[in-house]
Amino acid sequence: MAWIRIDQTGTELKDESEVRAFLDRYNIRYERWPLEDRVSPDASPEEILEAYAPEIERLKEAGGYTTADVVAITPETPGLKELIVKFGQEHTHSEDEIRFTLQGSGVFYINPETDPVFAIYVEAGDLLGVPAGARHWFLLCEDHHIRCIRLFQDPSGWIAHYVDHPTHSTFMPVCWGPQYVPPETIDRKKLSLE
Ligand code: LAC
Ligand code: NI
Repeated sequence: MAWIRIDQTGTELKDESEVRAFLDRYNIRYERWPLEDRVSPDASPEEILEAYAPEIERLKEAGGYTTADVVAITPETPGLKELIVKFGQEHTHSEDEIRFTLQGSGVFYINPETDPVFAIYVEAGDLLGVPAGARHWFLLCEDHHIRCIRLFQDPSGWIAHYVDHPTHSTFMPVCWGPQYVPPETIDRKKLSLE
């Protein structure tokens, strides 16, 4: 279950209806999809896409998405460190960033510009949709593992536009997992940040 933290105020939202209401204000889509009772999260990409076809079709119709795929990042992923650096820089896309987490976890930081930056921890079963144009960055957790379904309006347009005056470096680049962990106690080496 996703939860939210606003570092600037120390506010944490863990109640599902509060999380939903908060994300709604920023047009961020949040859904919970079934996991094991639908399909093994280890299944092949084809089986995964087939198993979630009803949800995928519903979103495609709602958001104009045309394609879906399944991707994974693991500690063995070639160029892992470069990916971590790339995802960890504040950016926007000209289309929505839709991710359903099948396995693993991560943190999306959102900079709404008119309100304080907030972080959303996502884990297996969470679907998150960051709207086009929203400033964001993404961090993996210490196990460097996430497997997701992605939806695209136009996969060839999946380009990160790095913003001028990014704010990511003023935040401790951490994934705290199911519980908040004070940033100074985080092992940055384990997150591949050093
Ligand atoms: C991306 C995420 C990780 O752009 O923000 O792929
Ligand atoms: Ni992105």
